Formats: sequence, C-alpha cells, structure tokens
Amino acid sequence: MIRLAIRVARADAEIALAELLALAPAGVEEIDHGDTIEYAVYGAQGELPTLPDLRAAAGAALVEVTTTQVADDWATRWRAFHRPVTIGGRLHVRPPWIDPLPSSSPLVASGSPPATSTAAGQDDDLLDIVIDPNQAFGTGAHATTRLCLQALLALEDRSGPLVDLGCGSGVLAIAAAKLGWDPVAGFDHEHEAVLAARENARVNGVRIDVTERDLLHGGPSPSAPTVVANLLRPLLEQIARSGFAGPPPRVLVVSGLLREEADGIAAAFAAEQGLCERARGELDEWTALTLSS
Ligand SMILES: C[S@@+](CC[C@H](N)C(=O)[O-])C[C@H]1O[C@@H](n2cnc3c(N)ncnc32)[C@H](O)[C@@H]1O
Repeated sequence: MIRLAIRVARADAEIALAELLALAPAGVEEIDHGDTIEYAVYGAQGELPTLPDLRAAAGAALVEVTTTQVADDWATRWRAFHRPVTIGGRLHVRPPWIDPLPSSSPLVASGSPPATSTAAGQDDDLLDIVIDPNQAFGTGAHATTRLCLQALLALEDRSGPLVDLGCGSGVLAIAAAKLGWDPVAGFDHEHEAVLAARENARVNGVRIDVTERDLLHGGPSPSAPTVVANLLRPLLEQIARSGFAGPPPRVLVVSGLLREEADGIAAAFAAEQGLCERARGELDEWTALTLSS
C-alpha cells in the first residue's frame, strides 16, 4: 500500500484541501507541520490520484510531494482522518471517533430500538449523524454529498417515502430518515456499501431498507415520491432513459455532476421523465440539481 502525501503552504491549505477532496472523496489524512500542512491519501498503485492532478489541485500552494510504502494497517489509518461537517446548521455528520457537538441531539444508543422519525420543523436541534464509511463512499465531507444534504434540507415537505440511489455508506438515507422521511430505502451495487449502510443505520437508530442492486443493468430504477441520487453522469443518463419502476418521483435530487454536465442531465430528465429543474447547488466544480414534476 502506498501513502501519497503533499505538503502545502498553510495560508492556502484550505483551498488545496477542497481541491484534494474532489480527487480523494474518501478523505485525507492531515498533519500540521507549522508553516505547511501535509495531506495524505492511501491506496494501491493505480487507485491514487495522479501526480499531475495532485499538482493541479495544490496549485501555487504546493511545497512537496512524497510517496512511501506503508504497512497493511492503512485502512485503519485513513479512517482515522475523516473530518466532521455541519450542513445548514441542521446536520452534523461525524466519524464515530469524533465526539458530538454539545448542541447535537443525542444518538439513540446502538442496540436500542430504532427511533421514530421527527416530522420536518418539529425539532430544530443539530442532528447528530455518525458515519463509519468502512470501504464505502460517503463520509459526508465530499462536495457532492454536501450538495445533496443541502438540497434535502431545502425541501419544504420532508415526509413520506424516500429512495437513495447509490447509497454508499448510507449518509444521505440516514440524514433523510432523521429529517422526517419514512420509509427510507437505499440501493448500491457494492456489497461493502450495503453492509456499511445497514450498520450505520443501526448505529444512528434509524430504520433503512438497504438492497444490493446494480442500477446500470437492473432495468428501471426504484422510485418513491422523493429520490436522491448522488451518482456520476453516465449512470444518471441511463436512469433518465430507462426511467423508474412505478411513477417517477415528485422530487428528484441528482448530484455527482461536474458543472458542465448539469445542463445536459437537466435536459435529459425533463425530456424523458417530465422532471424540471427547480434548484441548482454548486460547490467547487460539482453541481447538484433539484428536479420536480
Ligand atoms: C458518489 S457515491 C455516493 C454515496 C453516498 N450516497 C453519498 O452521497 O455520499 C456513489 C455510490 O453509487 C454506487 N454506485 C455506482 N454505480 C452503481 C451502480 N451501477 N449500481 C448501484 N450503485 C452504484 C457506488 O458504489 C457509490 O456507493
């Protein structure tokens, strides 16, 4: 396993980190060296960002790039560096080893019966969401995930069934359940993601039905009145074409789109499914769309 590290000037470290997280969505290790900050990612040869991409991400802040071979405990190490994020003053997503904010509503202890969801607007506490990504995508920190969480928070009606297509660690489905949607279902083709989402739902005290399913080859996609899909453009195009099993969603949040891809996806869902763009969120180079009938 390889540890790929870049050192950047402290003054520009936050900007460099935002760029880096786009290349390494699972998270980066951060070490403070005073005048410089070191960010590192772990992976096998071929899985890591390329040197030109890294240099471009760090821009003028770049001081040094190093690669080192590391022992097999890398998975534990990179998990230890996920950063908590707060979205819209309402959702606080953190890894299990970071304490909740004092203002957060308490989690239902693991092993307790699942909490019943509170309807939107009943509870303005900061909702505490604990996500251990294991091998699945979705710490909450990636721009595409944050855009989805913002889009869900912006919806007036946060009730009724919701489907999360490409649920990864379950972060969006769990946030949705905590915000009031019920029942909530998640789908992912990665077995590890399914296991991670189920376990994260249990730890967060919410009930989510998680199914292993390939959305590319599985025919029309699962549907619900609200659907969130943080996927990449080719799969979203496929979903726009092949449609939904059952009535199309009333509200569809799509993310995972580069800014230049958003218009094409909006046009595809309008033409194929009659879903029109109502809102657009942008963060770094990423875009999320809220579409509705
Ligand atoms: C960008 S991640 C989003 C994870 C999480 N929903 C979030 O917002 O942080 C995309 C997820 O879609 C899943 N995925 C990709 N292609 C898929 C496919 N063909 N069928 C089902 N899931 C897929 C991946 O395994 C991954 O977990």
